[in-house]
Amino acid sequence: MNDRCVFNFSSLDELENKVKELQLDIPFSTNIDVLKEKIEINGKTINNRLAIHPMEGCDATLEGSPSELTERRYMRYTKGLAGLIWFEATAVSESARANNRQLFLNADTFDDFAKLINMMKEESIKNSNQPPYLVLQLAHSGRFGENKVIAVHDKKLDKISKIERSHPIITDKELEELKESYVKTAELAKKAGFDAVDVKSCHRYLLSELLGARTREGKYGGNYENRTSFLKDVVKKIKDEIGIEVTVRLNISDFLHYPIGWGINEQGELDLTEPLKLISELQDTGVKLINITAGSPYINPHINRPADGEAKKYTPPEPPLIGVERLIKLSKEIQNNFTDLIVVGTGFSWFREYVTYVASGMVEKGYAKIIGLGRMAFAYPDFAKDIIEKGRLDKNKVCITCVRCAELKAHKKITGCVIRDKDIYLKPYLEILRENK
Ligand SMILES: Cc1cc2nc3c(=O)[nH]c(=O)nc-3n(C[C@H](O)[C@H](O)[C@H](O)COP(=O)(O)O)c2cc1C
Ligand code: SF4
Repeated sequence: MNDRCVFNFSSLDELENKVKELQLDIPFSTNIDVLKEKIEINGKTINNRLAIHPMEGCDATLEGSPSELTERRYMRYTKGLAGLIWFEATAVSESARANNRQLFLNADTFDDFAKLINMMKEESIKNSNQPPYLVLQLAHSGRFGENKVIAVHDKKLDKISKIERSHPIITDKELEELKESYVKTAELAKKAGFDAVDVKSCHRYLLSELLGARTREGKYGGNYENRTSFLKDVVKKIKDEIGIEVTVRLNISDFLHYPIGWGINEQGELDLTEPLKLISELQDTGVKLINITAGSPYINPHINRPADGEAKKYTPPEPPLIGVERLIKLSKEIQNNFTDLIVVGTGFSWFREYVTYVASGMVEKGYAKIIGLGRMAFAYPDFAKDIIEKGRLDKNKVCITCVRCAELKAHKKITGCVIRDKDIYLKPYLEILRENK
């Protein structure tokens, strides 16, 4: 075991001993059967407790349609039998796009989305499998998008996202208009065959930034009610006007400084008062599924996606085991407070082949009802099939959290696993190395 405590375990016992030695709250179980249990949302079945998290592939067409490469990723996921596939961040308007390779669902790209959903369902049915529960993540990339749309100014965040002090803040009127884009996109998602839409509110993209907008003036800033009203209005509008199931991928905390951090108090400590209140209110509007996450990949990636690898110019301040425990505890806290809610937990790819036992432990001990994997799905799209059918993962196929996929995304290259899917993703990674020599 080395100082940073990166993954260096040759048996489950060794990993469990390290967890005990550090007195971490990470559950393990070899009772894999809990992962095979079905779960229902309004009569729709999620076939098992394993999910694929939203993972941007930066491979859409310029118009925003799924490309052949996008189709390849989602067909591989479908064959991989995860009960829930959470589609990646998909823009609700042209100005909401992260880049011109991000998915964008609109009237012109609708047929291509519908075709992909159809292909996925047919693939499941052809093999006598229950089609996966499909969630579309509705996204506005805010300050990290091509158009740098911000809800507040903040010295530190503006520096990271290269925003001048004179850069305009999105107005209340523009936010009102944006609500309609969410509703319209949700309508198309329903028509295309998605089971639910996610009003993405995490990672300090626009809606996540609004949650912490204490310094903003007007009806969407200042007190708790104002800061959370955009999200709650959009959720309610989609439910009332479109009638599709609505879920939220929610930052439980940004782990940013006061006054612009969400889930943080004036002393800069984690404070779940507001996130718990928000989840309770979302539940009252009929939200039954919540995907828990924290931090931001641009600001504190060690919180957002604990990893062994280090991105250029970023030294994680803690070992990744501490990071995974933080995400696990957040999930436990939410699931324990809301036992009727289906909580999807995040941040497990770091466990490599032992993720099977952490996932089983999480579900068995009630820390989450569904376990989502992000980077693991890039590396090992059929991880769920192997867990369910073989009861274990192949250690030669797992994600090694080298963060190279995140570098591809940061450089707006087609994004996937550089290590396990070399034929496609090694070339763009080598281009980055050459460009940055
Ligand atoms: C390349 C890349 C793309 C991602 N895209 C999205 C996204 O579209 N939406 C989202 O909510 N999170 C996104 N994430 C975050 C993941 O869904 C997940 O929360 C994170 O990777 C931690 O989970 P893991 O340890 O299983 O990878 C992305 C992460 C990476 C590395
Ligand atoms: S490039 Fe592959 S191995 Fe590395 S973090 Fe991404 S998915 Fe995991």
